[in-house]
Amino acid sequence: MSKKKLRSQEWYGRTGKDGIIYRSWMKNQGLPHHLFTGEKPVIGICNTWSELTPCNAHFRDLAEALKRGIWEAGGFPLEFPVMSLGECSIKPTAMLFRNLASMDVEESIRANPMDGVVLMCGCDKTTPSLVMGAASVNLPTLVLSGGPMLVGRFRGKKIGTSDIWRFAEDYKVGRLTQEDMIEVESSMSRSVGHCAPMGTASTMAAMVEALGLALPDNATIPAADSRRKVLAHMAGMRIVEMVKEDLTMDKILTRKAFENSIMVNAAIGGSTNFILHLTAIAKRIGVELDLTDFDHFSSKIPLIANVQPSGEHWVEDLFYAGGMPAVMREIQKHLHTDAITVNGKTIGENISKAECWDRNLIGTLDQPIKPESGIAVLKGNLCPNGAVLKPSAATPSLLKHTGRAVVFEDIDDYKAKVDDPSLDIDENCVMVLKNVGPKGYPGMPEVGNMGLPKKLLEKGVKDMVRISDGRMSGTGFGTVVLHVSPESAIGGPLALVQNGDLIELDVPNRSLNLLISEEEFENRRKSFVPTQLPYERGYVNLFLDKVNQAHEGVDFDFLQGSSGAEVKRDSH
Ligand code: FES
Repeated sequence: MSKKKLRSQEWYGRTGKDGIIYRSWMKNQGLPHHLFTGEKPVIGICNTWSELTPCNAHFRDLAEALKRGIWEAGGFPLEFPVMSLGECSIKPTAMLFRNLASMDVEESIRANPMDGVVLMCGCDKTTPSLVMGAASVNLPTLVLSGGPMLVGRFRGKKIGTSDIWRFAEDYKVGRLTQEDMIEVESSMSRSVGHCAPMGTASTMAAMVEALGLALPDNATIPAADSRRKVLAHMAGMRIVEMVKEDLTMDKILTRKAFENSIMVNAAIGGSTNFILHLTAIAKRIGVELDLTDFDHFSSKIPLIANVQPSGEHWVEDLFYAGGMPAVMREIQKHLHTDAITVNGKTIGENISKAECWDRNLIGTLDQPIKPESGIAVLKGNLCPNGAVLKPSAATPSLLKHTGRAVVFEDIDDYKAKVDDPSLDIDENCVMVLKNVGPKGYPGMPEVGNMGLPKKLLEKGVKDMVRISDGRMSGTGFGTVVLHVSPESAIGGPLALVQNGDLIELDVPNRSLNLLISEEEFENRRKSFVPTQLPYERGYVNLFLDKVNQAHEGVDFDFLQGSSGAEVKRDSH
């Protein structure tokens, strides 16, 4: 047990004028003096509550349960807001602001008198932004996720966010009317919580559980289930102990923890966004991780959780079947079971008694839900620094495919042409979308799983090979190559593809190549003109100046590396 003086006493333990200034204004909230004497660790509650982030709109209520636990364990909770990123509302994409939010979190924690932190995360980017920011300060830190929504019901069928893509196609070809779509949207989001499938939000909640940053079952207890509040209460009790044990983030976020997380992500068929966020977190805490690690550690793990979009069911169902502990137990022979977690126990101890209650939901290594899962990392002349594809969401027959390129120069070009009946395209073509990478379309939006042309949908075509330097929603699916690096806007080879070129995708051999001669490549490279981006001020300008590429996590170069120094001086 650490005997270290509490960090908060650097503020509240002062005498004279400094002490008055740090304590007096706090007392206007009715807080008695003994809370400031260093007996009780100050626990910051980093809350992403916002009515504009509907997935986190229940966080005020959840924070109350968390506070009860903190008080019970002898801590002193102080809640503070940070920038909240609502995936469904923020334009052009919440990812543009992930790094900004992480800076808010980092500086809010570092600048304030707290000994430990609970990060309240839910909607997609609210988890990585908070974990990245907190990792750069490295206090004892525990993540509490908000939990998934209850599954929606539409005309007798279970539905969730991953069905949007199918509904959109049905609407496009007239199988659903606008009135039907309004009924769909009302049925889909019927409770508090984040998206119901294993989209990016649940992938992130599973990521923190696998990393050891959250208590067992954090990822799957539904938001509306009373056990979510029990989890919050227990999280509150535990963070107080973590401060006493000085269990800082760097003791949990080891290389083993990252490897575990990659394997678990394969087992659940997690979102491709996981790659960007985990890479960024690793670089914040100083752990070496590169794109090949994602392929290497996930290649031996099949799909264990039968959850959408890779499987059939929902995260709520996964909780009833045993949750993440039961999934992890199925792959435990591959995991580093000695990795320590926030509850002070190892991953191995946490999952040792986990049971599977429904084999429709949780497969085994011998009888998985699908044999191929994880992340395929592609290399080749089209993506020298890598590109990724999620095999469990792809069409098996397209994983080895050569086709004629149909090129869209940017998202506007795509929108203008895709449904044009005269577009020269068939189901064997390869759709190429340029200029949607980190700089080309600042923030790298989720447009990589671009919808198929209407005329092919009407013929019954369900999937085609699609390639871009953008991202895909965690709820998306298809034979979609993403995160091509370097991106086209800065002159990556994707910028050089022309209509009619042949592109060869070979997922079994992990390659992606443009079938043109080296001489032709060079000629095109010489005539490449970089896009002039119309952003000259504000945050977007900073983003364009400092953001790195997809294979590096799309973080700002100046935020990676070791923690920033504590500010020792007083403000007065
Ligand atoms: Fe918030 Fe999906 S929109 S998790």
